[in-house]
Amino acid sequence: MGLFSLFTREIAIDLGTANTVILHDNKVVVDEPSIIAINSRTKSVAAVGKKALMMEGKTGEGGEIYTVRPLRNGVIADFQPTELMLREFIKMTNTKHSFITPAMKMIICIPSGITEVEERAVRESAEQAGAKEVRLIYEPMAAAIGSGIDVLGANGNMIIDIGGGTSEVAVIALGNIASKKSVQVAGDKLNSDIKDFMRREHNLDIGIPTAEQIKINVGAAITQLDNPPSDYEVYGRDLVHGIPRSVMINYQEIATALNNSINSIEDAVMQALNVTPPELSADIFKTGIYLAGGGSLLRGLDKRINKITQLPVHVVDDPLRAVARGTAIALKNIDKFESLTKY
Ligand SMILES: Nc1ncnc2c1ncn2[C@@H]1O[C@H](COP(=O)(O)OP(=O)(O)OP(=O)(O)O)[C@@H](O)[C@H]1O
Ligand SMILES: [Mg+2]
Repeated sequence: MGLFSLFTREIAIDLGTANTVILHDNKVVVDEPSIIAINSRTKSVAAVGKKALMMEGKTGEGGEIYTVRPLRNGVIADFQPTELMLREFIKMTNTKHSFITPAMKMIICIPSGITEVEERAVRESAEQAGAKEVRLIYEPMAAAIGSGIDVLGANGNMIIDIGGGTSEVAVIALGNIASKKSVQVAGDKLNSDIKDFMRREHNLDIGIPTAEQIKINVGAAITQLDNPPSDYEVYGRDLVHGIPRSVMINYQEIATALNNSINSIEDAVMQALNVTPPELSADIFKTGIYLAGGGSLLRGLDKRINKITQLPVHVVDDPLRAVARGTAIALKNIDKFESLTKY
């Protein structure tokens, strides 16, 4: 360790709608849901991340503790809780006891469709949380780097990052985003589709954490899976009698419930392909499409995108961490990737 690194700490942050992932020295040091629990009486932080997630939907109205998911659709919706949450996450990266508080250099990824005001909010949150220097990188670029794509090469590649709040489609070549399309239909929308479906078809009221569990256990994008998951028992509140009840759910029902939202993601992919310059289209024809982000884990989504585009579709390694990994690689090799980041 050089003397310089004693006084500076470099961290890469994927501040996502659903999850925040932080890397330091090539290691994942934080991987937590983007949620904070606040004590309304003392105005202090009760918990962040996994601990706060356990409280979600259980705090009740008028209780002392409430939970907030401060990011929506990839951007900061609630400034102060974001800053508090980020501060706590950054504290978690500080494993060694040190007498010196190191200067923090941060690289944070931002959605490609972000406005200037939203961008400033990210920067200010990071500064308030202790950053001396903040660099930004666009998420699809980070996702591509983290997926092992040569983003600086002349060959065009298409990456789709399906997160909690946004699905971003981008074609990248020569260090540029040549075409892109972003829709606010991703994991969170799929959860609310499942919640609506349970109400409508089963008269069962469920919370978002339960919808998320349904998606993970029996979520699907197609009704014919080669390896179908077993049916799943869902617990909730009966809408007619108001008492607790359970019902068995199969993946085909969920595939039907998610159909409209998956259509919107497919439309975004088709629109991005339609505006891709022809030389890059030719490249994509050969290399296919890369799927990253937690949403890419939905059963059969790769098959469905393959069917509509007729292109090979690859789900990247460890898709939930691809963006964070790419952000960290950009930071570590800043000489090479400087032009892809901005102050
Ligand atoms: N096995 C799975 N099947 C389907 N969806 C999943 C699975 N695992 C995680 N997800 C979903 O992935 C989403 C989180 O992905 P990710 O961490 O990439 O999003 P994010 O980066 O926080 O969001 P964004 O990029 O939109 O700001 C959540 O909506 C989660 O429900
Ligand atoms: Mg993301």
